[in-house]
Amino acid sequence: MTEPTIEDYFHENRLFPPSPQFKANALTSDDSLYREADADYEAFWARQARELLTWNSDFTTTLEWELPFAKWFVGGTLNVSENCLDRHVANGIGDRVAYHWEGEPGDTRTITYADLLEEVKKFANVLKSLGLSKGDRVAIYMPMIPELPVAMLACTRIGVAHSVIFGGFSPDSIIDRVQDGECKVIITADGGYRRGAASLLKPNVDDAVGSCPSVTDVVVVQRTNSDVTMVDGRDHWYHDLMESASADCPAEPMDSEQLLYLLYTSGTTAKPKGIMHTTGGYLTQVAFTYKYVFDLKPETDIYWCSADIGWVTGHSYIVYGPLVNGATSVLYEGTPDTPGKDRMWDIIERYGVTQLYTAPTAIRTFMKWGEQEPQKHDLSSLRLLGSVGESINPEAWMLYHEHIGSSRCPIVDTWWQTETGGQMITPLPGVTTLKPGSACMALPGIGVEVVDEEGHTIEHGGGYLTLTRPWPSMLRGIWGDPERYMDTYWSRYPGRYFAGDGAKIDEDGYLWLLGRVDDVMNVSGHRISTTEVESALVDHTSVAEAAVVGATDDLTGQAIVGYVIVRGGVVADDALVDELRSHVATKIGPTARPKRVIIVPDLPKTRSGKIMRRLLRDIADGNTLGDTTTLADPSVVEAIRESALYGPGSGV
Ligand code: PRX
Repeated sequence: MTEPTIEDYFHENRLFPPSPQFKANALTSDDSLYREADADYEAFWARQARELLTWNSDFTTTLEWELPFAKWFVGGTLNVSENCLDRHVANGIGDRVAYHWEGEPGDTRTITYADLLEEVKKFANVLKSLGLSKGDRVAIYMPMIPELPVAMLACTRIGVAHSVIFGGFSPDSIIDRVQDGECKVIITADGGYRRGAASLLKPNVDDAVGSCPSVTDVVVVQRTNSDVTMVDGRDHWYHDLMESASADCPAEPMDSEQLLYLLYTSGTTAKPKGIMHTTGGYLTQVAFTYKYVFDLKPETDIYWCSADIGWVTGHSYIVYGPLVNGATSVLYEGTPDTPGKDRMWDIIERYGVTQLYTAPTAIRTFMKWGEQEPQKHDLSSLRLLGSVGESINPEAWMLYHEHIGSSRCPIVDTWWQTETGGQMITPLPGVTTLKPGSACMALPGIGVEVVDEEGHTIEHGGGYLTLTRPWPSMLRGIWGDPERYMDTYWSRYPGRYFAGDGAKIDEDGYLWLLGRVDDVMNVSGHRISTTEVESALVDHTSVAEAAVVGATDDLTGQAIVGYVIVRGGVVADDALVDELRSHVATKIGPTARPKRVIIVPDLPKTRSGKIMRRLLRDIADGNTLGDTTTLADPSVVEAIRESALYGPGSGV
């Protein structure tokens, strides 16, 4: 029997089977998809590819697999924009709304499938007129406006790969990405609205473009009417180019393995990795997961994913997944607290949103802001909730379930990565009995195993998450660096993809994600996951959010330090700190009692909402802080340092 690699303390026994009403109407409500995929996963994916997509020519081989390089649906040709747009219009649903777009200032646009197709065809001709053709790359650096999906789809129409750079990134990050991808064109906007003001993008492109010799042209959408510099011959207004563009642009059939996009993600070294996704396999898995995980009823559903298109969640579940399925989505430009802290609930009420897909950090932020915000709105249109990006602690799950979903909506906690392209571990809402805080199990067709340090499979307990077989939307490599691809993902456990995440598997075979492996603490030889201690802290009624790190400790190797944001109205004093430490010891066990709990006003987060535990470790260790440039709000760290030195529990 193999010893668990990460110890397993936290037990969650609440069970939520699908309600009879949900099950009765669900697209799938039994284990038939799992059984079909278990019998022959390649045949299962081949069926999905043929049923969900329209191919110009059928594929001859489902999978060619030479570890670590996969080719899916070999010999098939198809076009992504045709699958997302033309075929829906041809099927008579051109009048269906693709996006209900809402700008932060409150301006709105309603964009049907026919509208979107027209715009995409024109913009594809614009790209051609700038000299772009199949195999080229363009960078897209834009706010959340409809021209962003238009630009992405126009690229796919002519076989140009896009590289979307999140609008919060600095000129240096633009330079790294544009240079690495040798992008010929940058598509941007003058700015976008964030927190009630225009936040300019074009000046960042201006700063970057001088160091990007591959760039010949910059296309600029006018969004904020800000005063920006336009360089003659290089910079063009989107509306000027579109005015004369023809709307006649046939979709070009692409090889199934044609590069669809690059999306950069940070790794252990300073150089970001350009994750490569290709056409047929990516679109198949994204189409399948969007349809079944969100239980899509395209005629009646109004779906909203609150992520930014600059991250993979937006690529797969704002753009390609919804559009390939003919769904109607809400697209929102701005921040959740502008003009008030109820903006999200207001949007859900006004559009009658049926499925909400958001991140645990957003849910915990709402806990901090208080229940009164969602209570101001009628959220009865919601029928399903989704979570992505981090583990959702059981208590945050319960609040999401009760306060947002009125105990009526199943929650799909979806585990996946930029590298996996589509969802991998998640419940199916009409099938799976949910456990709060667990992403439940691998989707049909996906192979997941938890292994120990040596790579032996663990049946129960904690270890490392691995994927045991190729999947259609898997990354095809790291742009320009096949060796790094092999080393990063396929070397640690031969034959397996190593996800970099800790996970445990419980006695019912449910998976619990434990955070990145470097987030595992070692306290007196006990390997304890930061996620579990965070869950225990958030379980206390006074706590809104918590981040836990292992600080260096002479005695125990590492010592547990919890940073806690308390809920509105709670008095933070030494007594509360003691109570929280005891609460963790009661929930998990004495080994997990934090050495310190520090009450803080805020936590250091990246712009995508992930907590930067590295900085919290530096503060706990009293070190000088490393790079803080990727923080959404760099001033937060000073406030946290103050709290650590002088706040409750500091002994001052
Ligand atoms: O650690 C896992 C965490 O986010 C990582 C992937 O990050 P990124 O490539 O930015 O993609 C985020 C959106 C898919 C994973 O390695 N993660 C993602 N979803 C979950 C999660 N951790 C726990 N539970 C999840 N549902």
